[in-house]
Amino acid sequence: LMQPLLHFRTTRKLYFLVRRLIDVDLAKYKEMLRKAYEVALMLKKQEEVLVVTHVDADGITSGSIALQALERAGIEGNILFVKQLDPSTIEQVADRNVFTWFTDLGSGQLDLIAEKKIECVITDHHVPQGHYRLQLNPNDFGVDGAHELGGAPTTYLVAKSMGLNYDLVSLAIVGAVGDLQDSRHGKLIGLNRLVLQEGVEGNFISAFRDLRLFGKQTRPVYKMLEYTFDPYLPGISGNEKAALELLESLGISPKDGEFWRRWIDLSYEEKVALTSELVKLCMEAGYPVSTIKRLVGETYIMLHEEEGTELRDAMEYSTLLNATARYGHEDVGLKVCLGDRGEALRRARTLLQNHRRNLSEGLKLVDEIGIVELDNIQYFHAEDKILDTIVGIVAGMCFSKANLRKPIIAFANNSEGVKVSARATQRLVEMGVHLANALRIAAEKVGGKGGGHSIAAGALIPAGCEKEFLRELDRIIGGQLAKCRS
Ligand code: C5P
Ligand code: C5P
Ligand code: ZN
Repeated sequence: LMQPLLHFRTTRKLYFLVRRLIDVDLAKYKEMLRKAYEVALMLKKQEEVLVVTHVDADGITSGSIALQALERAGIEGNILFVKQLDPSTIEQVADRNVFTWFTDLGSGQLDLIAEKKIECVITDHHVPQGHYRLQLNPNDFGVDGAHELGGAPTTYLVAKSMGLNYDLVSLAIVGAVGDLQDSRHGKLIGLNRLVLQEGVEGNFISAFRDLRLFGKQTRPVYKMLEYTFDPYLPGISGNEKAALELLESLGISPKDGEFWRRWIDLSYEEKVALTSELVKLCMEAGYPVSTIKRLVGETYIMLHEEEGTELRDAMEYSTLLNATARYGHEDVGLKVCLGDRGEALRRARTLLQNHRRNLSEGLKLVDEIGIVELDNIQYFHAEDKILDTIVGIVAGMCFSKANLRKPIIAFANNSEGVKVSARATQRLVEMGVHLANALRIAAEKVGGKGGGHSIAAGALIPAGCEKEFLRELDRIIGGQLAKCRS
């Protein structure tokens, strides 16, 4: 007799707990919207605005949201892409002498911006280095900028306050996925989810649980499997024959007449069978539960894009954008975001092939040179063999094989010195690791600069300082872990 009552009590408790969480998020969302409105008002007073943004998927989508919002408000907008905001790029911005809208960057460089007296607004999600009245940054509202609200969704909040820009929600979600904001739970959480909900309600986006591999829209299923390296599918990755045999063993025909079947062409039963088999293979290979869990999660479909194209799926769309921006062709990605489905999309697709090849060669290189373990961190130095702009992506991908108990640090040379990229796991962050803080301090110690998020950060340091930098960083990360333990 008591059982249903007990059950009722627990459900009620759970209900109120969930309600409270939602209320907290809603309260923060409303607070952010108030600030977004203030930022939007300032923008609407301008005749001309220079958008300064980051060269990655989140940066391109943020920039294109900003540009479209300005254009629709009758304000002249121009865009400048930068790899990072350092004294020389700030100088460049200051020289333009135009009201500036920093998107997906700026919060970490408030001192430089103030020094040059640049009139501006900022919509960013990086750990802020101080307060600024016209800065919209989730971290200022107790919202984690690495998982709960990305740069593009933050920018979208201002765009929404400038006018009826609800359609730009698709770009906001592509940007969030591009920054791996959905990586922790295999789905978007926090305020990202509230933005997503607007997209779903507005019929711009559809969200559902699905396999989370790259190429579900565009690749024959066997190629999708063969080309998956994150995570490495045991016996299948890099092996076309094995991928085809796997499909046959499950009774899944790889072809439909003349056409190679893509994931989206499979029936529900076939999708379930293949997913279960992949999970089984990874379990048998002894993969950590966290890696196996990542195989399945939410997929975000852009309902206004053509089925079977990269642009239909947020994961493929954002990779396509990274493939342009990280190679100095951000103009191509920008045109795609602004609606060019002809020449720009064709060029982006060629760049995507090149990007995928570079990532897989990067992973191979790390296999060859090996990852060196120190007390609290592990690292590899790619020298000139991996481009500085993608070495962070490669580092993140290495986690499917490397030691999960230590942050991974990657070095690559660039024209200004040595680029550092660092990636941690969620577990390490929970244990006290904060890469942005650690990299900032260690970089400054050797005359460089760093920042980012707790789980992913970067720095630029002078060449030849790697050893000293590593020593510092190893010590700082050790300190972060010890502090959390005590
Ligand atoms: O500068 P920005 O925030 O755009 O850079 C985000 C980078 O951090 C992405 O390239 C992504 O690889 C990484 N990241 C991550 N895990 C997260 C959030 C971001 O690896 N949870
Ligand atoms: O370049 P990478 O993807 O490794 O960058 C990871 C994070 O670190 C990004 O959020 C980026 O904005 C930040 N970063 C930084 N300062 C640098 C390099 C990267 O704040 N010099
Ligand atoms: Zn970002």
